[in-house]
Amino acid sequence: MKLFVSEGNPHCLKVLAVLELTGVKCAIQHVIHDEKVVSYLNRPSLPALLLPSGMPLFSANAICRYLGESVGLQCSDLSNQWLEWEATELQPALAQGLHLAVLQGKGPEACRVLQGPLTYLEQSLSKTRTSFLTDDIVSVADVVLWAALYPILSDISLLSGEQTKVQNWFERVGLLAACKSAAQSVLQGKGLNAEVLKTYLQKQPAPPQRRDIQPCNSPEQGTEGDHVITEDEIQSAAATWAKGLAETPLVTDRQHPILPQEGKRNILVTSALPYVNNVPHLGNIIGCVLSADVYSRYGRLRGWNVLYVCGTDEYGTATENKAREEGLTPQQICDKYHSVHADIYRWFQVDFDFFGRTTTEKQTQIAQNIFWRLHERGFLLEDTVEQLRCEACKRFLADRFVEGTCPFCSYPEARGDQCDKCGRLINAVELREPKCKVCSQTPVVRSSKHLFLDLPKLEVELEQWLEMSMGSGDWTANAKQITRSWLRDGLKPRCITRDLKWGTPVPHPNFSDKVFYVWFDAPIGYLSITANYTDQWEKWWKNPEQVELYNFMAKDNVPFHSVVFPCSLLGAQDNYTLVNHLVATEYLNYEDTKFSKSRGVGVFGDMAKDTGIPSDVWRFYLLYLRPEGQDSAFSWADMAIKNNSELLNNLGNFINRAGMFVSKFFENCVPVMDLQPEDKRLLAQVGWELKQYINLMDKVKLRDALKCILNISRHGNQYIQVNEPWKKIKGSETDRRRAGTVTGVSVNVACLLSVTLLPYMPTVSQTIRQQLNAPPTVTATFLQGTGSFVCALPAGHHIGTVSPLFQKLETDQIEALKKRFGGQQAKAAIRPAQTSATQTVVNGVDTKELTLAVAEQGEKVRTLKAQKAEKAAITAEVTKLLELKKQLALAEGKSPEPVPMKGTNAHPTPSPAPAVQAVVSKADPERAKELTLAVTEQGEKVRTLKAQKAEKAAVTAEVAKLLELKKQLALAEGKSPEPVPMKGTKK
Ligand code: MF3
Ligand code: ZN
Repeated sequence: MKLFVSEGNPHCLKVLAVLELTGVKCAIQHVIHDEKVVSYLNRPSLPALLLPSGMPLFSANAICRYLGESVGLQCSDLSNQWLEWEATELQPALAQGLHLAVLQGKGPEACRVLQGPLTYLEQSLSKTRTSFLTDDIVSVADVVLWAALYPILSDISLLSGEQTKVQNWFERVGLLAACKSAAQSVLQGKGLNAEVLKTYLQKQPAPPQRRDIQPCNSPEQGTEGDHVITEDEIQSAAATWAKGLAETPLVTDRQHPILPQEGKRNILVTSALPYVNNVPHLGNIIGCVLSADVYSRYGRLRGWNVLYVCGTDEYGTATENKAREEGLTPQQICDKYHSVHADIYRWFQVDFDFFGRTTTEKQTQIAQNIFWRLHERGFLLEDTVEQLRCEACKRFLADRFVEGTCPFCSYPEARGDQCDKCGRLINAVELREPKCKVCSQTPVVRSSKHLFLDLPKLEVELEQWLEMSMGSGDWTANAKQITRSWLRDGLKPRCITRDLKWGTPVPHPNFSDKVFYVWFDAPIGYLSITANYTDQWEKWWKNPEQVELYNFMAKDNVPFHSVVFPCSLLGAQDNYTLVNHLVATEYLNYEDTKFSKSRGVGVFGDMAKDTGIPSDVWRFYLLYLRPEGQDSAFSWADMAIKNNSELLNNLGNFINRAGMFVSKFFENCVPVMDLQPEDKRLLAQVGWELKQYINLMDKVKLRDALKCILNISRHGNQYIQVNEPWKKIKGSETDRRRAGTVTGVSVNVACLLSVTLLPYMPTVSQTIRQQLNAPPTVTATFLQGTGSFVCALPAGHHIGTVSPLFQKLETDQIEALKKRFGGQQAKAAIRPAQTSATQTVVNGVDTKELTLAVAEQGEKVRTLKAQKAEKAAITAEVTKLLELKKQLALAEGKSPEPVPMKGTNAHPTPSPAPAVQAVVSKADPERAKELTLAVTEQGEKVRTLKAQKAEKAAVTAEVAKLLELKKQLALAEGKSPEPVPMKGTKK
């Protein structure tokens, strides 16, 4: 890598400071200002970083971000926003300010120009309680802003004395050795007076004169705040509206098989294939199939060529166990539960183009083909693995099914992977006197040969692909982060075979008694399911030039989709389509706990329809809660509130009123509209929300986009409220005309709502369109291009019969539902009658017992904490709790082998576990990965609380957790627990 810099250029100051801070090894070449480093740019651009691949980066902020990331210093959303602000708000002001101050000697004027951004910075700094912009540790954003402001802020004469927070922050950052030495090298340690700065500025084009700089694109200012409509927007909204429906194309019915088409955006959508042996709960449903459904429906409205495939994930131990439990064959279990899944998704109106399954002939063909190609190309390794085998049970025993005496401390009840007494990790074959947990027989050690996918050999190619995919696609922050943390520690070979029966057979003669490991096999299901849909499946799956692939999933699935599966496809070298957009949700909890089948807690897919609440309302509420960016929780009380306030009072009320005015006052006929300024203003407001909706939807921010819909009807309600058509209709001729205009505009807004609502609430959308008698072409209107709110129901249009869309959810109804699904029956459920239906026995381990045990242990910990018991006592109980959770996660059908993301599903945010300190005496990279994630999440939580100005005690508690997690992370990374100056900086 090589970095090109020049003297006097504040952008070079940024990159040099970050370079030194990160300690990245990189050659530095000093060049003169007008040297053209990047041959294809028509202007010299410095700094520039030549990447190892030969590609140049030539935006200072991008270089800084890249350098940060290459040592694991990921930019948080907030730091990214600051970088964006720096580039779009601060830089234009600085260009002008520096020009004025240095070249024209007009210091005070420069101050005025910079007033806006500096005030903004001052305000933001006084709002945060962290020492730096985003955190208590310095971030790339701090250094970039510091460097940008260095010439100005290091000049005492320009300081107003008002911005004390800015000054303190500036000094704090400037104390870093990296900053000091970079300032020395680029600006001779001088600020505005540096000769080199003057020379540099003289070579720059004169900045355009700007009006007073208003920070508008500022961090932390989301889409929530009311948008101020300009006169221009009003005029153009009115012009757009007048165009009407005329040129809009018809959305044609889908013709199967859907295949990629030349000149179209061809979008292949998948959602993670649900395990066949479970009934999915609401969290599973929103995490993948429902989210992917909303996006696919939206894509079709946009006129894209969308194919949405999914199916059940049917192989593996969990299925074998379920079969044993129910006295059926694995195939029978799959058949039975496949249709359970299909029914549930049908009820939720998930509109798959094809819903298949993984236990098909095509699956065997394609998986074996990929296997042989990997084999021929040398991407598979053989290794011998020692395993315990119980001859009585005729099976190899996963770690958690063995017990024995700890080889270190002689504790008699050590488990196959760890000793609860001394905490040491154990290799199951080293246990003394091992016993099978199911039958208590002594297992024998058997060595067995297995095949491994050589991930290290594919790592470079994978990274290149990922860099491109993440750079140009929409990857959620958690997806990027989880993927990067895997790459950071280097990949290890992964075992792809298992000693099981229920799986795709390994075709290699030396491994004929083995099947593929589910996580190698299952993602191939996407391909085989498509192949069962159409023989021309390769047009989707071997066509990266024409096809964009969207993978939807919950975050525990990320590494398999971003690392392992792409490596299988890359290694097979068959021009496969690889993931372009990876959309991962966080977790949905149930009330204040987790969904648990065995405790009867939470709503499962098959029960939703028994609640009497319509499918559309379920969809609405799940999408309203969609865990985008952080975990969220389903709550009955909140569901009632959202139904009654947002659906009934806001959305439904508006649409119903608009329709009723047309039918009651104008005999079902849309009246003449004579647009006044305030009508046009509404058009502009609605048009703006529509654009936001499209922007957010395009980026798969489904929850945020839903809020835009609700904003539109809020604007509509306000508009009706202010204009009172029900009064004007009784007034003078002018008043009556006015009532007509307001009614006509409103009913058109209702029509727009019916379309934007379609991806979320397909039935309600259709009902509205029927009531309004909207022309069929209307679904193709509004959402083309950047979106345009046109008049779709012109004067003279006849509407149909209007009736209310939503029903109130009453308190007693909600209370009853809450009781029914609240797990109160959990204790009673031990009654034998109930067990067979709800019990899940996995390899003899009853998940119900484990779940209860987890709940009880959690209670115990909470009680101890509340009683302020001794630390050691709490620690011991917390350790037990974590252990139970881990066992439960495993027993719930996660991989029988320790998987890299162990336990993430059971405790997405590892709670501070002091016990770990005692256990981890050396670096534990797996634990460190989990903790890195936990630290980020906890940091995010703290920031959110701070931003919300939450109670101090609450913030303090969360900060304490954060510090604890950081400490643990340091330990797991093999560092001393002292606060480290920069997270992830490797010395
Ligand atoms: N069955 C897995 C789960 O529910 C997901 C498998 S996704 C696939 O977590 F791509 F591997 F199929
Ligand atoms: Zn046994």
